Amino acid sequence: MRAIEFVEYGGPEVLTVVETDAPEPGPGQVSIDVAYAGVNFADLKARAEGYRVPALPYRPGLEVSGRVRAVGAGVTGLSAGQQVTALTDGGGYAEVAVAEAATVFPLPQGVDLRTAATLPTVLPTAYALVHTVGRLQPGETVLVQGAAGGVGTVVGQLAKAAGAGAVYGVVSSAGKAEYARSHGYDEVFVGDFEKAVRTATGERGVDLGLDPVGGETLKATLSSLAVFGRLVSFGNASSAEPWRVGQPELYPTGLSVGGFSILMLARTAPTALRTLAERAFAKLADGTVSLPVTAEFALAEAAEAHRLMGSRTSTGKLLLKVAG
Ligand SMILES: NC(=O)c1ccc[n+]([C@@H]2O[C@H](COP(=O)([O-])OP(=O)(O)OC[C@H]3O[C@@H](n4cnc5c(N)ncnc54)[C@H](OP(=O)(O)O)[C@@H]3O)[C@@H](O)[C@H]2O)c1
Repeated sequence: MRAIEFVEYGGPEVLTVVETDAPEPGPGQVSIDVAYAGVNFADLKARAEGYRVPALPYRPGLEVSGRVRAVGAGVTGLSAGQQVTALTDGGGYAEVAVAEAATVFPLPQGVDLRTAATLPTVLPTAYALVHTVGRLQPGETVLVQGAAGGVGTVVGQLAKAAGAGAVYGVVSSAGKAEYARSHGYDEVFVGDFEKAVRTATGERGVDLGLDPVGGETLKATLSSLAVFGRLVSFGNASSAEPWRVGQPELYPTGLSVGGFSILMLARTAPTALRTLAERAFAKLADGTVSLPVTAEFALAEAAEAHRLMGSRTSTGKLLLKVAG
């Protein structure tokens, strides 16, 4: 089979196509003939700086859709030929991928394989940010960094559907602002946002801030919270040094800080992840959210997909078409 691999960290050019044996599922695992693989910002961080890469050479790819090829010992409820969508712990950019059965899901009703590849990382993450960890209440205001990207596109729609008083987004260009406004956002700020958030909220600040950027953006998001506001950190796109939040920031106005990582949850609490994913997928099946695929590449063009996402001009979801 063909797979994408890198043997050193670097730019998109380090991604190469290799011919290799198809992986076999171990106990509790499933192998999948991949139809589509989703591209995630975490894949770019793996390639550029080794984020969650245990050893080189490494095969990137955290989500796929396709058909079950074989099931490992002890797996129940999944069978060869079944159409599924799955989280993969690497190795998704390949004609055959292996996943833990706990993170393999039958296709939601009415969803095709192409759309299914957009679901596993983004939808449960967005759902957790708005509901499970963010605990958004009707009427509350939300501020979302990276509003036009994969996660941001779904968060805007979910927050609006949950009855948010106002959903504010932050993006890096005017074109992205336009796109975000068509996906649930009431107002979208380009670049600096602290003053604009205070103006938009009559100086009050927002109830919930969602930050995948880290560093100065995380600090500014925290300072944009209203009294008793909540911040959820879910990424470090800026590759900033970790910043420790403590008493000086939290005590004066009674703030809370939470965190979320779908990849870590998959390892530590797979049953909780499954419940979360099923609730999240239902939001697609019932039409509450959509996640547009804005660009599709052949497997061998994975580097092009990384170039596009790395250029900060992409919106929505990027996919690799692997087969069918
Ligand atoms: N914790 C979790 O479980 C989880 C799950 C999925 C994704 N994530 C995180 O959520 C974010 C979005 O992921 P995605 O896969 O949906 O990607 P994406 O949003 O489609 O594309 C990457 C995003 O990162 C922003 N960005 C790129 N380079 C940046 C930089 N140097 N500094 C600041 N922002 C930068 C871009 O926004 P602008 O250009 O508009 O600023 C863009 O929205 C990523 O940070 C990812 O790691 C976390």
